[in-house]
Amino acid sequence: MSSWAKQGVDLHLHVERTCGTGLRAGLEHALRTAVRGGRLEAGTRLPSSRQLAVELGVARNTIADVYTQLVAEGYLTSRRGGGTYVAGTPSRTTAPVTNDEQAGPRYDLRPGRPDLGIFPRAAWLAATRRVLGAGPSDALSYGDPRGPQTARRALAAYLARVRGVDADPDRVVLCTGYRQAVALVGAVLARSGAMRVAVESPGLPEVSQSLVRNGLTLLDLPVDDHGARTDLLVALEADMAVLTPAHQFPTGAQLSAERRAAVLEWCRRTGGLVLEDDYDGEFRYDRQPVGALQGLASDHVLYAGSASKTLAPGLRLGWLVVPPRLLDPILAEKVLADRHSNVLDHLVLAELINRGDYDRHVRRARLRYRRRRDELARALAECVPPRRAAGVAAGLHAVVPLPEGAHDVLARLDRAGVAVNNMSRYTSAPTPDALVLGYATPPGHAWPAALTALTTALGS
Ligand SMILES: Cc1ncc(COP(=O)(O)O)c(C=O)c1O
Repeated sequence: MSSWAKQGVDLHLHVERTCGTGLRAGLEHALRTAVRGGRLEAGTRLPSSRQLAVELGVARNTIADVYTQLVAEGYLTSRRGGGTYVAGTPSRTTAPVTNDEQAGPRYDLRPGRPDLGIFPRAAWLAATRRVLGAGPSDALSYGDPRGPQTARRALAAYLARVRGVDADPDRVVLCTGYRQAVALVGAVLARSGAMRVAVESPGLPEVSQSLVRNGLTLLDLPVDDHGARTDLLVALEADMAVLTPAHQFPTGAQLSAERRAAVLEWCRRTGGLVLEDDYDGEFRYDRQPVGALQGLASDHVLYAGSASKTLAPGLRLGWLVVPPRLLDPILAEKVLADRHSNVLDHLVLAELINRGDYDRHVRRARLRYRRRRDELARALAECVPPRRAAGVAAGLHAVVPLPEGAHDVLARLDRAGVAVNNMSRYTSAPTPDALVLGYATPPGHAWPAALTALTTALGS
């Protein structure tokens, strides 16, 4: 543990020098936590890298690297004329949790968000009118913890048709998004006594954090060009694996046929479970998407989907399709968490699906994102030196590998106001620098300027 109290900043930094992550990662983590938690307020000037290096007894380069990394991630900013400051994250009094959404970068290319400018407002509004106009008052009472049957039926039919999910409406549980799905599944697993969960590395950090909170032991499942190394599940003695088979997050790899076969074989032989995160399964550009893994092993796979990419993350709307034996335990957790989620949204979603509005919207969004993906590829190819994006056959984000010592690039992007994530955000293992950028994020009018700012910073 280290601390510093200089420059008007009085702060203890809990830097854990844990095996494999090292001092740099420990320091990054400590600073992120301090910014997120509001202990370091927006606008606070940090000590110079030289001062902090002396204070903590580490090499100055280590501090400089940490600052550059956190600037690239949007936690810190470096101002013209010198100085590193905490970026515009709201303080604890205004928002108790991390909220990088509110920092409002000039060019927002952070992954994980759709273009909210194309949210189907008219269709949503019309469906809300119909639901409220025609539905009985009883529909607004406490209801089934899974969500209204109408909604589960519509969703089950949609998932079967579009994603090949083996979806019995009775086993569909509507929830407030993938994050709640992970929390519910984690709690059920922990209660059952199964403790070992393999998570993709790199992967979504909140998933790991949520599982750890439930007392589960995490096992890193490496990822390569063929997706997660499911061939390692037997050796890892995992009880469950959390996978993004259709489009690995964040690398963009698709789980190969061999790796799909390996995970199915592992399920059957060991009784292992899979939590399948199908977060952007509708967005495949080069051919028909590969169907959900769940369709091949519905007794072992919990299928999770979300409206966060297809419609808007602010809706907090997601769903699980659960194996029969896990339905009651999942519902027990759901009832404890919030009894059930918002029925109006469920009924509106059902309306959109049943009238074809949801399909129409997804088709429109797919065309738009595909066009952006192509424009991104062209623009990167024209950079000097030319660059290529990986993982772009599907989804809403791309990975752009950076050469070694890419801190100049990251700093240039920051100065230009281009917000992207670095691959290192998604793993505690050493990983080459690479931009993870969400090309769906900017609204249509801002996209061309965002692309120009990106390629200018990359190419200069
Ligand atoms: C890998 C991954 N899975 C799932 C989701 C959807 O999460 P939620 O439904 O909680 O918004 C996201 C969005 O951030 C994601 O990046």
